[in-house]
Amino acid sequence: MRLQKRLAEAGVASRRGSVEIIESGRVKVNGEQVLEPGFPTTPKDLITVDDRLIEKEEHVYYLLNKPTGYVTTVKDDLKRKTVMSLFDEMDKKNRIFPVGRLDFDTAGLLLFTNDGDLAFYLTRPEFEVKKTYLARVEGMLTKVAIKALKTGVAIENYVTRPAQVRVVEYDKRNMTTLVQIIIHEGKNQQVRKMFDTVGFPVKNLTRIGYADLTLDGVERGSYRPLKIHEVKKLFGEIKKR
Ligand code: URA
Repeated sequence: MRLQKRLAEAGVASRRGSVEIIESGRVKVNGEQVLEPGFPTTPKDLITVDDRLIEKEEHVYYLLNKPTGYVTTVKDDLKRKTVMSLFDEMDKKNRIFPVGRLDFDTAGLLLFTNDGDLAFYLTRPEFEVKKTYLARVEGMLTKVAIKALKTGVAIENYVTRPAQVRVVEYDKRNMTTLVQIIIHEGKNQQVRKMFDTVGFPVKNLTRIGYADLTLDGVERGSYRPLKIHEVKKLFGEIKKR
């Protein structure tokens, strides 16, 4: 098995993260520094990161209902509140990390795991699973804007893929619209940028669905482990492609 995959399977980081760790010179195979992510290993090889032996961990999967005001990162150099602070110490022992990211100001469904392999696939553009958002936007969203969002809009150098868009409610008093939008990509701040492009800035944003998972029964700021059938279904999403 390639070195980067061994690290990811051991829950050290995602596969992409593991490549960086290897290239930064922190990894040794049988005591020798290896800088090549694709280096072949056998189960007998002793692999260390920062001179600590890695072992295959049992994989865990959690679904968090993220509040706004938390940074999606494992450690924050600016000492802001991170999503990790919402987890019990016991559950953090498994070295979990977030799958993808939600903005500081975005609330809602965020997955966590120590399964670098699953995280790797779920965050790759070609495997991007469906993500459902509820956005409260400024103004009365027009038919023209809805059509543009559905077809694809240019955000920076990128044209978004077709999205599903449905107005949930027009709030005439406050001049806002509540919109449900389903996308299959995960560009940085994609939903906010899409609405900015059509001239209806997002006031607040919540991710209410990820693949078939929803926030049902999970209070804002709390989390639950995924059930086995839910994990299998996520892996199924990957195999479909
Ligand atoms: N799109 C955004 O703009 N922000 C998020 O946090 C997620 C998707």
